[in-house]
Amino acid sequence: MRFISPNFSDFAEPNIEFKTFPDGDSYVRIPDIKKEDSILLHRLYPEQNTAIFQAVLMLDTLKRAEAPTTLVSPYLPYSRQDKVFREGEAKSAEIACNLLADAGAKKLVTIDCHFLKKEGTFTYGKLEIENISANKLLIEHARKKAGEVEVISPDAGAKYLVEGVGGKSMEKKRGEYEEGDEAYRKIESLKRDFEVKGKNILILDDMISTGGTMIRAVENVKKGGAEKVYCAATHGFFLKESLKKLKEVSDGVFVTDSIPSDASEVSIKPLIEKYL
Ligand code: R5P
Repeated sequence: MRFISPNFSDFAEPNIEFKTFPDGDSYVRIPDIKKEDSILLHRLYPEQNTAIFQAVLMLDTLKRAEAPTTLVSPYLPYSRQDKVFREGEAKSAEIACNLLADAGAKKLVTIDCHFLKKEGTFTYGKLEIENISANKLLIEHARKKAGEVEVISPDAGAKYLVEGVGGKSMEKKRGEYEEGDEAYRKIESLKRDFEVKGKNILILDDMISTGGTMIRAVENVKKGGAEKVYCAATHGFFLKESLKKLKEVSDGVFVTDSIPSDASEVSIKPLIEKYL
């Protein structure tokens, strides 16, 4: 088994040639390429468009060398565009998966893939996906940090992360896309039909992107009389200064190192290691 890793130095020494041409095109070379089972460890975020294309270049190079390759990428970009809401929209999640499969990925090992909403082995488009959840590690970490906490999710999509510990879910509704260049659907409402008064709460989601969901959820449970409120997610992008804002409104915020950041307090190593 050979490990190929350009940007996963927390798991394996970077061991391929990765450069950028003066015009921005990606250059990839896998030294000593051999016909052997391989694992490609490649983070697909940040700069996801470039990172996905680099993955395609590496996978195809390995395919030509007849090296069956499993791709390990903790966060799968485009996983939130798995449905077509308006006529003419791209089905981006499926396109991304098909690209990786066509390039030669025998399987993708990933964590809390947004459209799968449970752990297990799935086929999506042409790609076989092993989806692992970081929920247990995140809940364990919260309990070490803050003692007993009740775990809830901010929307139905993240229900699977909390139901194993009897957690309840809030209900979130988004509006239509707004005018302008940013493809963003504002949160219209976020409701809760259970009590949080006097409790210590952990709000758990698969990702914190702009922080809009998590900030609304923290404000909601604080208003409901919760004692301490912590927020956690598998993937933390923390766009629009949302880490700073979340630190201000909550009693603590943490994520895994699937996307390394200042809030990465939980290592994904124990999750990924089983599959290596
Ligand atoms: C959506 O369904 C996801 O589970 C997250 O709640 C969402 O993507 C977080 O995005 P944002 O931080 O921009 O609200």
